[in-house]
Amino acid sequence: MSSPAVVPIRTLDKNGSEITSVGFERFGFDCEVPLDVLRSLYLRPHYVTTATSGSETEAVDAKEDNAHARFTQGLAAYQSKSIYHPDTQSISYTTLSRFPPVKLLPPSQRKRVLVTGGAGFVGSHLVDRLMILGHEVTVLDNFFTGSKTTVSHWVGHPNFEMVRHDVVEPFMIECDQIYHLACPASPPHYQFNAVKTIKTSFMGTLNMLGLAKRTKARFLITSTSEVYGDPEVHPQHEDYWGHVNPIGPRACYDEGKRVAETLTYGFHRQDGVDVRVARIFNTYGPRMNPYDGRVVSNFIVQALRGEDMTVYGDGKQTRSFQYIHDLIDGLIALMNSDETRPVNIGNGDEFTIGQFAELVREIVEKVQKEDGDVIPRRVNIVYKPMPTDDPQKRRPDTTRAKQTLDWQPRWTVRMGLEEMVRYYKAKMAEGSL
Ligand SMILES: NC(=O)c1ccc[n+]([C@@H]2O[C@H](COP(=O)([O-])OP(=O)(O)OC[C@H]3O[C@@H](n4cnc5c(N)ncnc54)[C@H](O)[C@@H]3O)[C@@H](O)[C@H]2O)c1
Repeated sequence: MSSPAVVPIRTLDKNGSEITSVGFERFGFDCEVPLDVLRSLYLRPHYVTTATSGSETEAVDAKEDNAHARFTQGLAAYQSKSIYHPDTQSISYTTLSRFPPVKLLPPSQRKRVLVTGGAGFVGSHLVDRLMILGHEVTVLDNFFTGSKTTVSHWVGHPNFEMVRHDVVEPFMIECDQIYHLACPASPPHYQFNAVKTIKTSFMGTLNMLGLAKRTKARFLITSTSEVYGDPEVHPQHEDYWGHVNPIGPRACYDEGKRVAETLTYGFHRQDGVDVRVARIFNTYGPRMNPYDGRVVSNFIVQALRGEDMTVYGDGKQTRSFQYIHDLIDGLIALMNSDETRPVNIGNGDEFTIGQFAELVREIVEKVQKEDGDVIPRRVNIVYKPMPTDDPQKRRPDTTRAKQTLDWQPRWTVRMGLEEMVRYYKAKMAEGSL
């Protein structure tokens, strides 16, 4: 059976130009990589075909091959193709026979980079980028919220190492740069064991700063807009000290990150550790855990399943959403810059949650129509009571990032959402969601 013609996906940036690569050169560090290479890694981290009986197999294969080809173009050779057996609910994994191409850097340019929390949502995208750029990457993760599958496509690569380790315990390694991300980031996960979250924030950061001090590695911590709490200032700039409830259910995370920042500047002033502090605002993208209660994944999964979309509160609270590739551009630019003050990294385009739910519904319908899916009915948007301490308004002032890093978000929320919808659709087709 012949496959239908492959129609590639076009992605446009805020100015209407096509996005074919992400990243840029800043401060002598080039972080540009082709978008289709990245997509071939995350839109189907494990390319799974569903086993069916007889001639149907061929038909399913052709449909899935075609869907896959739209994202990976000529990169299918670098994909593993695992087989899912619905009758026994089992999966037969294959390992890669060939790794995606990585840059060949001279030793003087190749960095030894440690990424704590590298198996999580943000970490795995950072790892993909650093690997494709040709650096040596070590992932340190206890797999509390992360999963080996997010970076398994690099296992066995000579530039890659994965270590199961809890950052609450000391760790020794030789490295040039440390991206310290390890910490659960979504409310259900960080509230699951509040004491452990505080330990991870404090002791984990203490251990990694100790390592940076010993190795003279540059240290970047991923802090959060939560350090501003329920802010009285809009938009939030880095000099605002925040308005945080120290004993509420979110305090283990918010105060944990605040003390982690304090510790970071303690090591900087006292011991001369070279530090970078990124205050990340709401970020979304493929590989986000669909069940962790974050608004973007909640809305998309509900809409794709044809279930009611749940808005907490009256839907008038506002949020801004940043796409993962913009965040990774910002983190790499910050790491390689001379900026030691905290830097907000986020997208300032503000939506009310109610508006956002409508946008997600519209994009899900658009993608379903493009793929020729049957849409039985339009999903409803329903309103439920607001959880405690949920901030009403949050929007980054990114002037500092623009001035010192020459960084600005490039992805529109619409383009990011489309990619995210396709990612969750692919996961559903595989049977893993
Ligand atoms: N995603 C966002 O919107 C956002 C916003 C602000 C800040 N951040 C920060 O970015 C970082 C990454 O967030 P994410 O969204 O990828 O979350 P995530 O939960 O997907 O990833 C966190 C990773 O850290 C690991 N981890 C947790 N505790 C650990 C420990 N004690 N030892 C070793 N590993 C541990 C987890 O297993 C996981 O792989 C976090 O520090 C988070 O606070 C994220």
